[in-house]
Amino acid sequence: MTGSRVVAVGHYQPDRVLTNAELATIVDTSDEWIRSRVGIETRRIAADDETVDDMAARAAEKALANAGLAATDIDYVAVATCTAIDRSPNMAARVAARLGMTTPAAIDVNTACSGFTHALATADHAIRAGAASKALVIGSEKLTDFTDWSDRSTCVLVGDGAGAVVLTAADEPEVGPVTWGSVPEMANAVRIEGRPGTFGQEGQAVFRWATTELPRIGRLVCERSGIAPEDLAGIVLHQANLRIIEPLAARLGATNAVVARDVVESGNTSAASIPIALSKLVERREVPAGAPVLLFGFGGGLSYAGLVIRCP
Ligand SMILES: CC(C)(COP(=O)(O)OP(=O)(O)OC[C@H]1O[C@@H](n2cnc3c(N)ncnc32)[C@H](O)[C@@H]1OP(=O)(O)O)[C@@H](O)C(=O)NCCC(=O)NCCS
Repeated sequence: MTGSRVVAVGHYQPDRVLTNAELATIVDTSDEWIRSRVGIETRRIAADDETVDDMAARAAEKALANAGLAATDIDYVAVATCTAIDRSPNMAARVAARLGMTTPAAIDVNTACSGFTHALATADHAIRAGAASKALVIGSEKLTDFTDWSDRSTCVLVGDGAGAVVLTAADEPEVGPVTWGSVPEMANAVRIEGRPGTFGQEGQAVFRWATTELPRIGRLVCERSGIAPEDLAGIVLHQANLRIIEPLAARLGATNAVVARDVVESGNTSAASIPIALSKLVERREVPAGAPVLLFGFGGGLSYAGLVIRCP
């Protein structure tokens, strides 16, 4: 075996929908401000007793069912999250226990909003190294636990949910090389800090960095994967702001790609945003199976990780 491929995807979102109009009754904001600055119309909010591992397990069950695999087939499970409440056990161990896995390597990855693509790359590397053969990679977040509901600059942005993919070993690699890195001098630009922890960010600085630096890095991801941007069939960027997503896709030159815009209905779900958005593209069959899709996460750290996969 020389690589891995994504064979299935699945997602879970809580039932409760929070609209911009409802938010405007809580803080001094408006539907018009939120739509025009970020593009968000609604977001999903987890119930008080619904946890990061609850949502992760539900997304994982769907991905496994779509893959036609049992939990006991999985030998590597990674959960990308920055909103786990407990320090130990990690979310991956809890998901493994809930789903009845046998002896998987169970690892959490915390690089905030770029966590899912980091976790996907480590699973691909484990398979390439022969240390795993069937992997489950999950992004799950309950950002609303770390949200100051009196701060209009942050509370309008966040949502909860989870997405998961199943990876298997493949003779022909369908998960391209990862391009990842960080910007240490902007390490504090996106934060969940303090106890129990509150989400905050330097919004304008992050916006400037994302719109000026990410097109170059996105092109590098494509180049290293041997894919011309115009040959991409899909682009799934971290779903933080439509005003970042749309110009970035345009500046990449991905003229034929379907661009995921799930931020509109789901808000910013940090490490869960890419697998949720990818799962919806697949569910609606907006990208053909086997077609190249760019996944690109960025956020706290500031960290980023991008790779091109073949669509399941
Ligand atoms: C967060 C973000 C949407 C804010 O948009 P912005 O245009 O930069 O807005 P600013 O923070 O400069 O605020 C502009 C004004 O709107 C006000 N404002 C902030 N939130 C508001 C809200 N929800 N409703 C109404 N007004 C609001 C501010 O108080 C400010 O008012 P002032 O001009 O009177 O001082 C945007 O900066 C962004 O998306 N940044 C990148 C985020 C990101 O990608 N993070 C990494 C991954 S999580």
